[in-house]
Amino acid sequence: MRLACPVVLALCIGAGGPALCGDGAPGHVLPVSRDGNLVVGLCDGETSIEVEGVKPGEPMTREQGQKVADALMTEWRRKHPDAEWVVADAGSAAAVAAQGVPAAPAGSQHQTYGAFTERDKQIWQESTDKLVAEGKKIFHDAKLLGGTNAVSCDMCHPDGSNTHPETYPKYQVQLGRVAMLRDMINWCIENPVRGKPFPDDDPRLKALEAYILAQRKGVALEYGKH
Ligand code: HEC
Repeated sequence: MRLACPVVLALCIGAGGPALCGDGAPGHVLPVSRDGNLVVGLCDGETSIEVEGVKPGEPMTREQGQKVADALMTEWRRKHPDAEWVVADAGSAAAVAAQGVPAAPAGSQHQTYGAFTERDKQIWQESTDKLVAEGKKIFHDAKLLGGTNAVSCDMCHPDGSNTHPETYPKYQVQLGRVAMLRDMINWCIENPVRGKPFPDDDPRLKALEAYILAQRKGVALEYGKH
């Protein structure tokens, strides 16, 4: 499989602001491949690559998906050489933290102030951990994301890095509006993952949100920050 930058021939064009497609809602602007190949866009709403030899909807392996993700990121990093971007590193603090969500400290002093027991707290913690674990699974699995090109979030966001959930809500230029974290998750599911956005009340969307937030535990909330 070879990856190449496609001929620029936009489907719908945004003039300076967000791209507006047929129904007036901002959408991903993707160049059309002259050979009918799959074109995959990035979360920035600008960068895209053509996957040579692969037609839209054709099955792809995780290895191919990783190549697509890497090609997109190479292109993005070329445009943003100074941008901070965490990459996968087995020994990193983020990687270690992702091994498991820390459990609540045992024997917490707060139980005196509520009509609940240590056992209750344990159940609450376990339910929360379960949701986070489910989100982690989906984040790492193109099929569970409903993707069609074997690309999954972890390929560019190892351990949920670079997602900055603590900066939401904030205005996202590619969406042309103030976005919540779940809006950005759905945007990235459309491209680069090439799946269908999840409905707002979809348990998978909640699980993804839970996982991303859990990865940033302890980071100060700074909504609106770019
Ligand atoms: C091919 C690489 C790639 C993949 C795969 C990818 N992303 Fe991204 N993502 C990016 C890049 C690059 C940006 C930064 C775009 C920008 O700043 O304009 C980004 C931005 C984001 C942001 C906003 C970060 C911020 O600072 O506000 C979120 C949230 C996010 N991605 C979530 C996801 C989720 C969830 C998935 C899977 C459904 C995903 N991404 C898949 C590369 C990727």
